[in-house]
Amino acid sequence: MRSTALFDRSYRGDRALLVQLRESGQNDPTAAAEFRDLALSAGAEVLGEVDAPLARPHPRYRVGTGKAAEIAEQVQALGADLVLISGTLSPVQERNLEALVKARVVDRTGLILDIFAARARSHEGKLQVELAQLRHLATRLVRGWTHLERQRGGSIGLRGPGETQLETDRRLLAERVKQLSRRLNKVVKQREQGRRQRQASDLPQVALVGYTNAGKSTLFNRLAGAGVYAADQLFATLDPTVRRIGGFRFGELVLADTVGFVRDLPHELVAAFRSTLTEAREADLLLHVVDGADPEAAQRITDVDAVLGEIGAEEIPQLLVLNKADLLSDPLDSLLAGDPRPQVRVSALSGTGIDGLRAKLNELLSEQSLHYDLVVPFAASALRARLIAHGAVRAESAADEDGWHMQVELSERLARQLSHLPGASGSCARHQLLGTAEQAE
Ligand code: GTP
Repeated sequence: MRSTALFDRSYRGDRALLVQLRESGQNDPTAAAEFRDLALSAGAEVLGEVDAPLARPHPRYRVGTGKAAEIAEQVQALGADLVLISGTLSPVQERNLEALVKARVVDRTGLILDIFAARARSHEGKLQVELAQLRHLATRLVRGWTHLERQRGGSIGLRGPGETQLETDRRLLAERVKQLSRRLNKVVKQREQGRRQRQASDLPQVALVGYTNAGKSTLFNRLAGAGVYAADQLFATLDPTVRRIGGFRFGELVLADTVGFVRDLPHELVAAFRSTLTEAREADLLLHVVDGADPEAAQRITDVDAVLGEIGAEEIPQLLVLNKADLLSDPLDSLLAGDPRPQVRVSALSGTGIDGLRAKLNELLSEQSLHYDLVVPFAASALRARLIAHGAVRAESAADEDGWHMQVELSERLARQLSHLPGASGSCARHQLLGTAEQAE
């Protein structure tokens, strides 16, 4: 569902003409193919394409006047109602071109915003995208009206209501932006809290990342459906893209889906995009999903790695998941050969290879167990309760005046978490628990 009815930018079912801008001397078929994919992702029906080399700057339409006339002709001939431009247009250029071709004109930023609006699933992500949409719209609203005022050339009877409308639009827009920013602040705080609770639950955090259309959501649903799915009210409502999945040797993990990556993200979208990737930045393991049937798969992997670097997630261990194995006659052995990251092949759609993926997760996330002999003082009963709840207690002998005597076996992660509990520092194994925490920091 789109963010607001007022500023709805839905192109579903739109009949589109694509204009592929090409800087002089450059011919990048990958960029052209990616833009086509973006248009399809936004739900456009692509009727045709116009190649538009940019030999020198044309301030009026960005493309030359001859090319602009050709676009107008094509729009008419094909019966298109939308023109998608593969680069960025200034608000004035967008408006000029719209007036000439008599169809809606949307540039690459507008198109990506639309896709984000459709894909952002977390509350915070949705709000961020709407803010970016409004800011994008605001420049167009103001300049658009300046342009109209000039066109009217002082026809007194018309100007008044026009200006009133402009004032109203600006005020509505400013109010909406203020309201959104307030809500966003609140959601960020709530999410912080949710994240802390999730981390405190000691479960490994795993995030799906990958290029748009790689099959992340399909894999997410496949894993969430196959595992023991325990609904957690708190984050089910706060962020529907996070699920707890069970059936692993180490118990459960928390799996997060993220928005798909694209190349050369327009600058104003970076904040919105990053906010949807918070889960990725804080994960213990990234499942880097690759569309194995994509001829550009190797380049996509490089692109995703670059974005992960930008958001500070390059150090997080990755499992490469080569998806869409059902479409591969030749299993693309050369694609990932030489890549040191662990890898699996799956078909998220058919379920093939999912057992192998789960086995790999077991292998990567099961930590070596640590063994402790603890004397837990009576004041630290919460620590004892947590150890019991986690099934970490191997033996417990009768308590004496020092406290409970326990033999425990637990993962490093759990030891790290428990070392912060009140009373943990009073246990006789204090040096061991704190030692583990220090090593990990
Ligand atoms: P974004 O939301 O754009 O980031 O995409 P995504 O990575 O979440 O991809 P999604 O799960 O939406 O899948 C994209 C398309 O690929 C859909 O049409 C899926 O049905 C298809 N798909 C996913 N996995 C497989 C697979 O294993 N085999 C085949 N043949 N198609 C698949």
